Amino acid sequence: MTERETWATRLGFILAAVGSAVGLGNIWQFPFKTATNGGSAFVFVYLLAAVLIGLPAILAEFVVGRRAKRNAVEAFERLNRPHWTVVGALGLFIGMWILSYYSVVGGWVIRYVFGSATGAYFGAPADYFGAVSAGLDAVALHGVFMLLTAAIVAFGVEDGIERATKLMVPSILLILVGLAMYAATLPGVADAYAFYLAPDFEYLFANPGDVIPFAVSQAFFSLSLGMGAMITYSSYIDGDESLVSDGGTIVVLNTLVGLLAGLVVIPLLFAHQGGVSETAAGGGASALFVAVASAFADLGAAGRAVGVVFFLVVLVAALSSAISLLEVVTSYVVDRYGVDRKATAFGLGGGLFLVGTLSAGDTAWLTWFDTVAYQVLLPVSVLLGVVFVGWALGPVAVEELRKGSGGLPRAAPAWLWMLRTFVLLGVLGTLVLGANTLYEMPAVPWV
Ligand code: PHE
Repeated sequence: MTERETWATRLGFILAAVGSAVGLGNIWQFPFKTATNGGSAFVFVYLLAAVLIGLPAILAEFVVGRRAKRNAVEAFERLNRPHWTVVGALGLFIGMWILSYYSVVGGWVIRYVFGSATGAYFGAPADYFGAVSAGLDAVALHGVFMLLTAAIVAFGVEDGIERATKLMVPSILLILVGLAMYAATLPGVADAYAFYLAPDFEYLFANPGDVIPFAVSQAFFSLSLGMGAMITYSSYIDGDESLVSDGGTIVVLNTLVGLLAGLVVIPLLFAHQGGVSETAAGGGASALFVAVASAFADLGAAGRAVGVVFFLVVLVAALSSAISLLEVVTSYVVDRYGVDRKATAFGLGGGLFLVGTLSAGDTAWLTWFDTVAYQVLLPVSVLLGVVFVGWALGPVAVEELRKGSGGLPRAAPAWLWMLRTFVLLGVLGTLVLGANTLYEMPAVPWV
């Protein structure tokens, strides 16, 4: 057996994990879920969830990965808990489920790189989105995005990925800050900020079922939890450095990118559409594209260049997340069945492309896949992971987290206690509250 790969440096691991976390979840989903699920009430719950549930949960995945040093399914066997491999298998399934439509949105981003260069959407951003978001065009570009993802996973450009992420995170922050400053000058910005940031507990208490499940799942999605991604990435860790501080860094950076994207998109929607109701009526998927498109159109000729750069950076962010989704499954198939890596990556990519054609053909399907992932799949998967680490692993997990956390001797037991109490209750509550939306939702879009 050849020796298992590891990250060259601790920074390499952090960057790869940030690359997985920062993606369409932050830049596309976060602003539109905020716009369609209660604005500041959503943001408030999201922030709480990221820190109080997301951080402990990401540490749980790190502990499993670093301890087992194995792919996300076999890790459970390696830890002598073979019955729990179903949790790993569920994670793989969810990863594929999500990648099928994630790639469709990735295709839209590619379309917008070109649309920015030619200024195609400048005249009528909303109509343009309507025309390119579904149909043959969307299918074709979804294919291109999936092919890129599979190719990177097949050939493994570790160097490339590390380097790309190193550049990506600072450039995303920079561009988003620039755009947020521009957005701050627009008419109606005060209303936009009030909607986005002014605490609104009244709304929260009146509509908990519309806010909480989406906001908590947004934290999971955005932190790449419940899909084995963080187990896989942490299984390549070589040393015993502090997972707590690595996890903290990742959560902070990831949250920052989402918040900034909201500071761009929400004011732009208020300035150009007088609020968020138009976006909400359309299911939300258009928000990012229509909002920033109007900003770039306003900037005139310079807007084309800014648009190209912006969407290229978003594309890198989306790709570095998509490859982590595909890598989880690929590494399992390669490890377990000894299938050729290239054949696995392209085979899986091809299959997921077919599933994704549903979402590329009709955004109602995309919304359906997305909602099922948020309302059911992610919370169930995270819940099982928490029970696994909190109870089945228990003291072993504490011992693993303790390594390298020398300065914080009490952190590990406190973390276990958190997992067993309000992380568990939080995720359970999310599932219960989400059940109602699910009940009202059509089983599949054609009904
Ligand atoms: N966190 C990524 C994003 O926000 C999506 C993702 C989820 C990637 C799960 C890998 C695993 O875009």
